[in-house]
Amino acid sequence: MAIKKSALDLCRSEVRSLPIYNAGISEEVARARYQLTRVTKLASNENPFGTSAAVSVELAKSLGDIYRYPDPNCTALREQIERNTGVARSRIVLGNGSEDIIEMLCKALLVPGDRVLTLAPSFGLHEIFPLMMGATVEKIPVNAAFAYDLPAWCAALSRPVKLVMFSTPSNPVGCALNDVGLQVLVDASPLDAVLVIDEAYFEYAEGGDYADSLKVLSSQPRPWIVLRTLSKAYGLAGLRIGYGLASDADFASLLDRVRTPFNVNTFAQVAAVAALRDLKHLKAVVSATVYERADLMRQLVALEAMHGYGMRIAPSLGNFLFIDVRRPSSNVATALMQNGVIVKPWLEAGFQTFIRVTVGRREDNQHFLEALAKVMHGGQ
Ligand SMILES: Cc1ncc(COP(=O)(O)O)c(C=O)c1O
Repeated sequence: MAIKKSALDLCRSEVRSLPIYNAGISEEVARARYQLTRVTKLASNENPFGTSAAVSVELAKSLGDIYRYPDPNCTALREQIERNTGVARSRIVLGNGSEDIIEMLCKALLVPGDRVLTLAPSFGLHEIFPLMMGATVEKIPVNAAFAYDLPAWCAALSRPVKLVMFSTPSNPVGCALNDVGLQVLVDASPLDAVLVIDEAYFEYAEGGDYADSLKVLSSQPRPWIVLRTLSKAYGLAGLRIGYGLASDADFASLLDRVRTPFNVNTFAQVAAVAALRDLKHLKAVVSATVYERADLMRQLVALEAMHGYGMRIAPSLGNFLFIDVRRPSSNVATALMQNGVIVKPWLEAGFQTFIRVTVGRREDNQHFLEALAKVMHGGQ
């Protein structure tokens, strides 16, 4: 008699050993698990200021269309992105969140044994999707100043590599490359390496020393793609919509071959067009976040100066701060949760004493600061 095999026995070995993305828990689950009356969720870098008012108007108008499949080419959205970015519509890739495009890139480009370079600490999917394809992932740690370690990157790039993929501003650290730094990295990359610059947080970097990646990459004789999302500054995380600006139309159409045909739903397309048109709202969200980010940083520095816990806070151009609490991050995150605040404990090797906290509204940040002071003081 044949021995019964489990799904685990039958799956590809790459999948068997794949880590599961740490997506955290929802407010409802936290409320129920810890019997909380007030919950402040600062774990997923969402935008607590919300999306443009125009979005709900347009969503209401499109309700009657939901019996139809969405436009597989995202025509209106593609045109809007072309208007906002100046990149020709044939070079634009649309995804069910930008994570969908990261998966498409890995499916289209990687075979077992390919070498992929990314940052440490890293956004989980920059590692998980390449591993899923059997690639090996090498991570270049940030330096002691929480910045890209350019000499280490150049050394790593001196050997063959298939995909160079990292975020700037980086999640979870918040460091960002300026024009010079990006140019160094691009120049050091082998010409047959594909460059993926993940700019999920680029709107928040406005006014900082931040690379104009489209300009730096424009003269590159190689495939590259810049990834952006509507999940952060545009406040549409729940609808799942992201886009990529590719070096050329052929590269964009290659990714079309590995996506599901209707990957961006009708609501996401309609909402994204409305949000991308409302630049006034975007500006208000970004300036409120940048203001609160500086204030939160100031208050954390003051807390540290008063008590000397040894906390270190990385400078950030994103809508989050990465904090070394010098204690196991999962204990601190659990204690914060018991006080009604959800943050993300960092579980990656080498960074397990760090938490990442999203910059919220004034009252959210205050709740976090009060809870953190209590937890660091041992009061839990
Ligand atoms: C660096 C980075 N890239 C991509 C994503 C995925 O975003 P999306 O919601 O567009 O899939 C995130 C989400 O947190 C992120 O931090």
